[in-house]
Amino acid sequence: MKNIDSYTHVRGESIYLDDIPLQQGTLFGAAFGSPHAHGKILHLDLSAAEKMEGVVRIFTHKDIPGRNQIGGIVPDEPLLAEDEVHFVGMPVAFVVATSADIAYAATKKIKIDIDPLHIITDPREAREKNELIVPPRTFRLGDVDSAWAQSEYIFEGIAETNGQEHLYIETQGAYTIPLENNFIKIYSSTQGPTAVQRHMAVVLGIPMHQLEVDVTRLGGGFGGKEDQATLWAILCALATFHLKKPVKYSLHRMEDMMMTGKRNPYSSDFKIGLSKDLKILAYEATFHQNAGATADLSPAVLERTLFHCTNSYFVPNVKATAYSCRTNLPSNTAFRGFGGPQGMFVIESAIAKAADHLGIPASEIQQKNLLRNGDEFPYGQKAESEANECWQEAVEMYEVEKLKAEIEKFNSENKLSKKGLAFMPICFGISFTKILMNQARALVHVYTDGSVGVSTGAVEMGQGVNTKMLQVAATIFSIDPSKVKVHTTNTFRISNTSPSAASSTADLNGKAVQIACNTIVERLKPVAAEILKVSDSVIELRDGFVWSDGTKTDLTWEQLVLSAYIKRINLSEHAHYATPGIGFDASVEKGHPFAYHVYGTAITTVTLDCLRGIYEFDAVKVVHDFGTTMNPIVDRGQMEGGIVQGIGWMTMEEIIYDKEGRLRSNALSTYKVPDIYSVPKEIDIHFLETKNDNLAIFRSKAVGEPPLMYGIGAFFALRNAIKAFNPSADPAFSAPMTPEKVLMSLYSKTATPSPKPQLIKEHE
Ligand code: MOS
Repeated sequence: MKNIDSYTHVRGESIYLDDIPLQQGTLFGAAFGSPHAHGKILHLDLSAAEKMEGVVRIFTHKDIPGRNQIGGIVPDEPLLAEDEVHFVGMPVAFVVATSADIAYAATKKIKIDIDPLHIITDPREAREKNELIVPPRTFRLGDVDSAWAQSEYIFEGIAETNGQEHLYIETQGAYTIPLENNFIKIYSSTQGPTAVQRHMAVVLGIPMHQLEVDVTRLGGGFGGKEDQATLWAILCALATFHLKKPVKYSLHRMEDMMMTGKRNPYSSDFKIGLSKDLKILAYEATFHQNAGATADLSPAVLERTLFHCTNSYFVPNVKATAYSCRTNLPSNTAFRGFGGPQGMFVIESAIAKAADHLGIPASEIQQKNLLRNGDEFPYGQKAESEANECWQEAVEMYEVEKLKAEIEKFNSENKLSKKGLAFMPICFGISFTKILMNQARALVHVYTDGSVGVSTGAVEMGQGVNTKMLQVAATIFSIDPSKVKVHTTNTFRISNTSPSAASSTADLNGKAVQIACNTIVERLKPVAAEILKVSDSVIELRDGFVWSDGTKTDLTWEQLVLSAYIKRINLSEHAHYATPGIGFDASVEKGHPFAYHVYGTAITTVTLDCLRGIYEFDAVKVVHDFGTTMNPIVDRGQMEGGIVQGIGWMTMEEIIYDKEGRLRSNALSTYKVPDIYSVPKEIDIHFLETKNDNLAIFRSKAVGEPPLMYGIGAFFALRNAIKAFNPSADPAFSAPMTPEKVLMSLYSKTATPSPKPQLIKEHE
């Protein structure tokens, strides 16, 4: 089934925030952000701005009726700065005017005096100064200290990944409308309608039931609107609260890039120990997460880095420690993979380093250490692994031996053009790591004409979740999908939603829809049985008709529904789902946090122009564990998008802050994201259908985040191509591997300078 939004998308009829017709009297907002990264506010002068024609009012923290606090995990984030500023762009005031242009112009007339304080942008400096968001955490398995002694080879090094701009096509924004009795309706481009509602209630000092957050769809989220959509919505609501007028704020692209956080950059140390036969015996990693100025979601992102620090491998002795480091940058946040990719990059770097020094392809080490059924993760859960199946299937169906031979031949025949290949196995845990978030609700109405309306807590952001919700209802009722509509995500219809995140949205909300529909079916069966004068147990709904004892009857879905209504049977259901069997004890860092894992292997090949340092990805060939996909078109779209986004993070997207904490890569002219020319010439996706039971909706495994991590293979394929040209090159494990870095490496005499000295030890 095609994505249900495809028709309105191509016709330009899909409704986003900016497509909502404006009410008469709507005012427009613009935030005034701090021009300095760190300092004390000495004086704020609004007078010139306030005098401007069309400026209605300028709000500061003094106008907040409730608490000036929007921190999600740690209460460390004011809505508007009070005495200090902590990053460039930190909102200090909110101008409301009769037009967006006037509001922006007014922000330029605001004057602020700031007494500067020391600016930290480097997470390692933050750690040295003990500027930590939360205490460090350590995951342990076995005993690394004694395992080093048994290791034949030990390698140490540093691996770094930069941030990543979400670059959702629709920027952040909100539109708030006053209703009677001080209710406010909020249209917000958010992945977390309840987060908006909850924090807004705190800031405005009113109960949540006065705040109706409504989301039709987002033009992309990627994690950037999981927590960070809240701020803009509350600014608008604050103005609506005081002025009793509709207020809209939809950010300019450069404003969005400057004021919002990105994927957390990491700087990490690794140490890996291998046996003579290439088994990884020990792995130690220390992660320094650049959290930015406040906690935001960083502590949760940090946790997922630890959960995925050994990627798809079994390592018997692990010690992984993670520091969330406070810097004077916008708070970094969720981004597809949520810390997992950052953790995986480090162990892939460790393996590559070992392979370099042992003179073997990394794939030999990777393959030997893939997770097997029953292997224990450092956090205590046992693997139900498809890692080997995916890898073996990829090797066979993509004829890897032949591919390798072709690459060798190409490399021996071409002097200035080299090819590289890398494997990237993945293992990604599905569930929110915060256990309580693994719940969802759905409201299903069957109308008297047989049409069906479905509401859930899922937010459609292009990932096709509404299509899957519709499929669940249409499948359970066994009616034509055209009879089902999925309605907006609305906090008055579905309360206390978890954000659409963690790849879990279709599972959690889909299961709730399934429960609701099944309940209604169970109410309809006796009605059908009575009409047909048979017993309930032989009744079945199939293809729009009632079937009795395996035989189609003349009783249609519509007739049945209407009969039930006449008999005063409830045709609506509100259902609740909570993932069973999961739990985690953070006091010992052990448990069973994930409903299941998603596995896969990608083989990435690249051709490198060794004169220019530019490159083209020939192919990404994947075998991916889908369980049993319920929508191959939607899932393929997620795969392709995730892979290209991952390649972007690994190769071209370079976020640059200067020492003053100012974003220099602040526009699309200075920040390169993948375009159509960056897409690999070939993306092959083989759907590994695994028959094992799992907790996914219709056994169709989550697909939102996992494919991004295949992009990590791009870094290592490029690295291998560089080494094919210049065997003495030792490109630092520092992503993104931009064409400049590639070029420097191609012609480096020795190791390219890495950010910190790399120690190499071969154990005697
Ligand atoms: Mo997603 S990175 O879990 O919002």
